[in-house]
Amino acid sequence: MKRLGILTSGGDAPGMNAAVRAAVRTATVNNVEMVGYLDGFSGFVSGESIELDDRAVGNIIQRGGTIIGTSRCPEFLDPNVRRAAVEQMRARGVGGLVVVGGDGSFRGALALQDEFGVPVAGITGTIDNDVYGTDETVGFDTAVNTALLAIDQVRDTSESTGMMFFVEVMGRTSGAIALHTAVAGGAAGVVVPEAHAEIEDLIDQLRGSIERGKRSHIVVVAEGDEAGGAFGVGELVGKELGHPYRVVVLGHIQRGGRPTMRDRLIASEAGAMAVEALLAGKSGFMIGRQLGKSVEVPLKEVVAHQHPPPALELLALAQKLSG
Ligand code: F6P
Repeated sequence: MKRLGILTSGGDAPGMNAAVRAAVRTATVNNVEMVGYLDGFSGFVSGESIELDDRAVGNIIQRGGTIIGTSRCPEFLDPNVRRAAVEQMRARGVGGLVVVGGDGSFRGALALQDEFGVPVAGITGTIDNDVYGTDETVGFDTAVNTALLAIDQVRDTSESTGMMFFVEVMGRTSGAIALHTAVAGGAAGVVVPEAHAEIEDLIDQLRGSIERGKRSHIVVVAEGDEAGGAFGVGELVGKELGHPYRVVVLGHIQRGGRPTMRDRLIASEAGAMAVEALLAGKSGFMIGRQLGKSVEVPLKEVVAHQHPPPALELLALAQKLSG
């Protein structure tokens, strides 16, 4: 294998660049060239790509986003599109592919291996932390820290005015960002899609803490909650309590920005391990984190599960510590 391809796919995540850099530089050390497909599977299909050498990936480890672009690419669900993409990949001498993304991207990667025998490796890259088989995904730590920064700032206003704040964080159908942000941000409450019927409990809890004289109340709401995000929950809870409240939707602010040390580190390890394993003849794995170590996890296992189990113990902890 003298030439490998890499692409970043789905929502961009801080640390994707660190993963690309590590993969390219590990390839260089092994005398292997690396091609970067532009805008995820779209570039893989169209053949739009750039040569990535050590200098091309200089000065990117600290940058959010992804220098090779990303996209969601529904046409890749079509097997004929996949076949054409593999033909053009082989015509250019590319012998294997590294995919940085979430579980949807890994399904696409696995199809390439199963249908056409393309050696593939996955590196997690999503702020949602919703990939089975890894304790954390590249981008998650940065997103939580960004949300925390916002909450610390909003708390100043909540404490000064007594207003309640409903802060909406991303995560699609996963409450991972919300749960971690709530505990680390000292939130008064948290609402996530994985736990049902918590609104009544939340109202009781907030009523109690208002009566006990607490002034600042931050409620973290996962965007995927069935009550309708922070606007929905704010309306239900704020009105029921008759308490002044405001809604803050953090949105894509959580996706960008300098990756934390943690995301740079796990992305760097994953980039290096993915390329080394491909060059050792392995295929069909993702580099995940388990019990503090970077490990190879079979992609078949990853895509067979929708989501990792939610860390609902954090919900109980946030409630216990809400004061
Ligand atoms: O998957 C990452 C994510 O940021 C989710 O948290 C969010 O629901 C979604 O992407 C937003 O997607 P888009 O950028 O396409 O609006």
